Amino acid sequence: MTQDITTPPKRSRSSIRRSTNTDLTATHAWLVDEKKLGVHGNFLCNWSVIERAHQNGDLLVYIDGQSGQPAAFQLGKLIYPGILQVRKAYRRKGIGRKMVERCFSINRKRDECCLYIQCKPSSSIPFWESMGFTLINTRDGHNYAYRILEKNLSLPEKGMDIKVVIRFFPESCMWETNKMPFAIHEPKARLGQDNIIYLDKRVSFNTKTQTDAFDRDVVIGIEVDEKQRYLDKAKYQEAQAIGVRRCTNGFYIDKIRL
Ligand SMILES: CC(C)(COP(=O)(O)OP(=O)(O)OC[C@H]1O[C@@H](n2cnc3c(N)ncnc32)[C@H](O)[C@@H]1OP(=O)(O)O)[C@@H](O)C(=O)NCCC(=O)NCCS
Repeated sequence: MTQDITTPPKRSRSSIRRSTNTDLTATHAWLVDEKKLGVHGNFLCNWSVIERAHQNGDLLVYIDGQSGQPAAFQLGKLIYPGILQVRKAYRRKGIGRKMVERCFSINRKRDECCLYIQCKPSSSIPFWESMGFTLINTRDGHNYAYRILEKNLSLPEKGMDIKVVIRFFPESCMWETNKMPFAIHEPKARLGQDNIIYLDKRVSFNTKTQTDAFDRDVVIGIEVDEKQRYLDKAKYQEAQAIGVRRCTNGFYIDKIRL
C-alpha cells in the first residue's frame, strides 16, 4: 500500500525590501480596498507622494512570506515626516516595529542620528512612543516627534582620561549673558596618543527639538579640562575642524581634534 504524502506548501520568510513595480500595484489595490471598507489610517489620499517615493527608490515594503504580498510600507525613513502604514489584518503583530527598526539600522549606517516624524493620525502616538520617540508640542497644532539614535563608541586602550563638557545653546547666548543651554553632555573621554579626544558615546543635538534652534542656529560649547575650546555656531567650518559633524536634522560629535 502506498502512502499519500502531501508536500506542505512552501513558505518563504517575510522580508523588507525596496518596492518593485508589482509591489506598488499591489499596495494601491490594498489601499483602495481598505478605503472602501473605511479602515482608519489609510494614506490613499497621499498616493502621489507614495508613488514618487517609489520612483525615487525611497519606498520600503514589508512582504508577507505566506502571501508574497505587501503588508506594510514606509517612506521618509524617519528623517522627514513620512508615512508608515500596516495593512489592517496585520496590525499589532510587530510589523510596524520591524519597519521602524529597519529604518533605525539604515540611519545608523548613514550617521543620521536625529530622527524626526509626524504622528498622523494622532492614534499612532502610543506606537511612536513605544518606538522611543518623544512628542514635541508644535505651534501649528500637528503632532511631531523626535528620537536620537544613540551610538556607543570605543575609547583607545592607551591614553589619558580627560574631562569634556559639551553644551548646546540657543543662538542668543552670543549676545545675552547667562543664557541657559538646551542640553549639557559630559561623556567619558580619553585623549589618545594621536592627540584626538575620543568619546565613549556619540553626543548629538536634534535641531528640530527646540523651537529656537529650529528657527535659528544652534551654538555649541566644547570645554576640555575646564578650558573653553570652542563656543560658536555649530554650522561653522571651525566647528567642523574640531569634530562637529552635521546630519540632516542636527549635529553630532564622536571625537574632538585639538
Ligand atoms: C501605527 C501602526 C503603523 C502600528 O503598526 P503595528 O504593526 O500595528 O505595530 P506593532 O505591532 O509593531 O506595535 C509595536 C508596539 O506599538 C504599540 N502600539 C501599536 N499600536 C498601538 C495602538 N493602536 N495603541 C497602543 N499602542 C500601540 C504597542 O506597544 C506595540 O507593542 P505590543 O504589540 O507589544 O503591544 C499601524 O497601526 C497603522 O498602520 N496604523 C494606521 C496608519 C498610521 O497611523 N500610521 C502611523 C503614522 S505615519
